[in-house]
Amino acid sequence: MSIIVTGASGQFGRKATQLLLERVTPSELILTTRKPEQLADLAAKGAQVRQADFDDPSSLWAAFAGGTKMLLISTARAGSRLQQHKNAVEAAKAAGVKHVAYTSFINARKPGNPSVECFDHRDTEIFIEQSGLAYTHLRDSHYAEAVAMIIAPIAIMAGRLPTSAHDGVEAMVSRDDCAASAVAVLTTPGHENKAYDLTGPELLSIPQAVKMIQELSGKPVVADYVSDDDMFAHFDALGFPRQASDHVDPERPWSSDGMVSFERAIREGYFAVISNDVEKLTGKKPRALRDVLIQYQSMWPA
Ligand SMILES: NC(=O)c1ccc[n+]([C@@H]2O[C@H](COP(=O)([O-])OP(=O)(O)OC[C@H]3O[C@@H](n4cnc5c(N)ncnc54)[C@H](OP(=O)(O)O)[C@@H]3O)[C@@H](O)[C@H]2O)c1
Repeated sequence: MSIIVTGASGQFGRKATQLLLERVTPSELILTTRKPEQLADLAAKGAQVRQADFDDPSSLWAAFAGGTKMLLISTARAGSRLQQHKNAVEAAKAAGVKHVAYTSFINARKPGNPSVECFDHRDTEIFIEQSGLAYTHLRDSHYAEAVAMIIAPIAIMAGRLPTSAHDGVEAMVSRDDCAASAVAVLTTPGHENKAYDLTGPELLSIPQAVKMIQELSGKPVVADYVSDDDMFAHFDALGFPRQASDHVDPERPWSSDGMVSFERAIREGYFAVISNDVEKLTGKKPRALRDVLIQYQSMWPA
């Protein structure tokens, strides 16, 4: 059995690979990435490192050849990544892959969910199912690491965090717990044609997260309840494009319609899901947001 990890040089991909190496031999891993030189350390350990870019379908069949299972890590270009994912699934099928585990999002298919980011996930899930491949949808909640490494520094620097999520709640989950859950799916039997909700242990609002950041940092930080229009104006001022299709900066592949509709979905309760699937898959309780904030606290602005 060979397991493919796509986007293996990303944060999720690196963690999943590290955990897979505790369970399988390096030669059983096919690690694909746009930049193979970034995985030279894993190639040196014996993993098969191959170049693959979902924007270049011609690169994919050879990259996936010989793989049995695939961890398809969603790309970062929210709002315009569906074709990338379709290219990957079609190539996987053509290359003989049997089972695709995909990093999706909580309630991506709930009718009415306004999150633009979830539209890609919903349509990718459906495409995988229609491909005839066995599937496992790994529906991750909002990453606690995103709160710790992106939201916290911005809030501390500014002393305030504008949010149109208001008092809507979500169960932020550690990306590491999601990677461990993915590895369980790839290395143990019985996960075909299933979906898992991967959440943290408690439902929290963004203002409650900001309160934790304020307590841990000792800095005056407040959540500022604003409207969706105010959020658009905030992201306009930071130079983000409105539409995913307007991206010009590959280093900042986000658009304000993705981010504002994400906050709206939190506010309207679409991500208010709590589940014990992480513990069922990994045998361990998921980490709390506070633990993840403490882990990254030393990286916050002084
Ligand atoms: N649940 C959440 O809160 C949350 C938060 C952030 C992100 N996400 C999603 O989870 C994914 C993994 O998160 P992360 O923290 O590991 O992000 P990351 O470190 O920014 O990694 C981005 C990933 O996208 C891959 N990628 C980008 N363009 C690609 C292309 N053209 N072809 C193939 N792969 C491509 C990268 O692969 P290479 O660079 O190796 O080619 C890498 O694996 C993200 O891409 C995003 O879809 C979820």
